[in-house]
Amino acid sequence: MGITEPQGGTIHGIAVVPPGLEQPAAQELADLGCGGVAPLRRAVRFDTDLGGLYRLHLQARLPFRLLRQLASFPCRGRDDLYSGVQQALDWATWLPPSATFRVDVSGTAPGLNHSHYSALQVKNAVVDLQRQRWGQRSSIDLDSPDLSLHLHLGGGLASLSVDGSGSSLHRRGYRAAMGLAPLKENLAAGLIALTGWGGRVPLADPLCGSGTLLIEAARAALGRAPGLGPDGPRPFALQRWPDFQPDLWQQQVEAAAALARDRLPDGQPLAPVLGMEQDPAVLGQARCNAEAAGVAGWIQLRGGDCRDFVPPEQPGVLVCNPPYGERLGEAEALESLYADLGRMVKERCSGWSLWLLSGNPELTGALRMKASRRIPVSNGGIDCRWLHYAIR
Ligand SMILES: C[S@@+](CC[C@H](N)C(=O)[O-])C[C@H]1O[C@@H](n2cnc3c(N)ncnc32)[C@H](O)[C@@H]1O
Repeated sequence: MGITEPQGGTIHGIAVVPPGLEQPAAQELADLGCGGVAPLRRAVRFDTDLGGLYRLHLQARLPFRLLRQLASFPCRGRDDLYSGVQQALDWATWLPPSATFRVDVSGTAPGLNHSHYSALQVKNAVVDLQRQRWGQRSSIDLDSPDLSLHLHLGGGLASLSVDGSGSSLHRRGYRAAMGLAPLKENLAAGLIALTGWGGRVPLADPLCGSGTLLIEAARAALGRAPGLGPDGPRPFALQRWPDFQPDLWQQQVEAAAALARDRLPDGQPLAPVLGMEQDPAVLGQARCNAEAAGVAGWIQLRGGDCRDFVPPEQPGVLVCNPPYGERLGEAEALESLYADLGRMVKERCSGWSLWLLSGNPELTGALRMKASRRIPVSNGGIDCRWLHYAIR
């Protein structure tokens, strides 16, 4: 029990990732220098150090959150949780009564089956200890706490972590404007990673909505760090941790900024990135978002119907997330759209790869194409498949 990591030593972390993206997220964390990487369910375990954790917050595109484990202790019920939490951390350092906090819980233990109840137990353990020691307690702040605690219960253990991002990492800050049913930025980045597109062949989204797939693809290919906006790094909760090291942070910010390029790493230009959208208001949002994301100069967006898509000569990768009737329009009305989309790609996109996010197998049947890969992913709680078709 107690603090599991000496200062400057190994940090045990958990990346919370979209369901279905565990494998590419594990690969991303390994590519960013993590050791001990292991995919879990909706999460990836990793080891790093403080500089590495800063790097992940600035550069990892797939996680929602990065949790830094501070303590782990046996937990067979309520009383273990209460006493374990009190002994887990040096609370005077991590949470003086003047600092605010929030608690989130995942998993269960005997007598601890409801996350709200378990969170209340953690909160009570912390504030009771504070009152005994200092006669004062921290306030809860759900929106912008100084410390965001995460408790995971499972396998007879409780694991207490702090969340380094504050607000979810999928919010890159470039998306003031959102079309109907936009993809989350980290899911879009993960879907692009699964296609293997690296900027050398054209990429097109003929139903691009607010442009999330294309923007995330272009930003990844041009080395734009997700944690950096035009004015520098977004604020992160880890900057309020007691062991925050401003110099180390600054080094990582500069390293992340130095990755930004206007070309591919070998100096070749980025291949064409093309988007079409039939709704003029949504197209306007895509333009604003691409501008705010700093990649408008590399993405050609035009209004129109996907049935009129004319691909560039060099074969490339088509990605799309057509409406599937759950949230936009009715399924029957969409069948002809899918049938026409299938016809269009077979007629004009020979040699291309098509990746389509489907939340409705009946509609994808109307494409009249056979998928060569079907990767289960969840889009905002909707069970979807990222389907790959090789177009002959
Ligand atoms: C689910 S949304 C795509 C969301 C997008 N991936 C994003 O993150 O913003 C589907 C989009 O397809 C567009 N759309 C529907 N039918 C179309 C068509 N025939 N041609 C072009 N766009 C179409 C809709 O206007 C909508 O913006």
